[in-house]
Amino acid sequence: MDQGIIRPATAGRDVPPLDEGEAIAALADLVRREAGIEIGASRHAMIRSRLARRLRALHLDSIAAYHDLLLAAPAQELPHLISCLTTNVSSFFREPHHFDMLAETARKTLMPRLAANGRVRLWSAGCALGQEAWTMAMVLADLGLTPDRGDIRILATDIDPVALQTAALGRYTEAMLDGLPRERRQKSMSFDAQTDEWTVTEPLRRQVTFRELNLVRPFPVRGPFDVIFCRNVMIYFDDRTQLELCRRFAAVLAEGGLLCIGHSERIAEELAPLFTGVGLTAYRRTSVAVIPDPRTTGRMPHGAA
Ligand SMILES: C[S@@+](CC[C@H](N)C(=O)[O-])C[C@H]1O[C@@H](n2cnc3c(N)ncnc32)[C@H](O)[C@@H]1O
Repeated sequence: MDQGIIRPATAGRDVPPLDEGEAIAALADLVRREAGIEIGASRHAMIRSRLARRLRALHLDSIAAYHDLLLAAPAQELPHLISCLTTNVSSFFREPHHFDMLAETARKTLMPRLAANGRVRLWSAGCALGQEAWTMAMVLADLGLTPDRGDIRILATDIDPVALQTAALGRYTEAMLDGLPRERRQKSMSFDAQTDEWTVTEPLRRQVTFRELNLVRPFPVRGPFDVIFCRNVMIYFDDRTQLELCRRFAAVLAEGGLLCIGHSERIAEELAPLFTGVGLTAYRRTSVAVIPDPRTTGRMPHGAA
């Protein structure tokens, strides 16, 4: 963690303590630097409301006191801060056209590859509470693409360790199954009448591996991936961070690999040589592309060199 971001308010030095507004601004700055998440001044009130429960749990009475605590114990508290400030909204079969494309890709490319003893890798990047990754597993299982048929894995990652716990459990309340037809529930989930919760069935659970991963840091994975879903995540990042992330996705996507992004997200014009649009917010990695050098094109957003 870059501690230089936080002004050492009461850390034994002779500087005035931060007031509430300054403390909130310092937290927003920290989350931007650590997670890429932009929270503009007009949304600073959201930081206060999202942290209210955390402050109560820590018996703190102000954001400034929380900021001091974060400064004193960044390794322990930063994950909590990030967890409070991320938005984990998701649902099964969200933006369903992407899952139709996944099924088409599976039929045309992935099934023949597995049949030839090849390797298939998919990535749900920014998986939140897991519905996206489990939906991918359901679509593949419908086509008989399961780990007992060959070397096929879905990696599901998020920066938020708390969301990941729910995701990995694969256990959902009725309300969280919004969008999942009844017959699909019967097929892919089991119901626990005691807790009123639905749990993803065992064969699907073998398909998905959940890991903590910060998308604004170098990837600890090399790919190549056949499919990457990174949907409704980049929307929280600034233009330059989005561009860099898509450039790094291109580097780990197989040629012809599918990248799906959220309905209000776009791939920067600078990266056009790397991706071919194949549908609504869906792209394939082009086969022969030279990654444009922003220093020579001079077309990076915000004048970054
Ligand atoms: C709105 S959810 C998207 C869930 C799912 N992809 C979908 O479209 O339904 C956004 C997720 O992005 C995650 N996220 C935000 N910044 C991140 C980062 N720097 N690295 C990894 N995940 C991040 C959040 O924790 C959150 O779970």
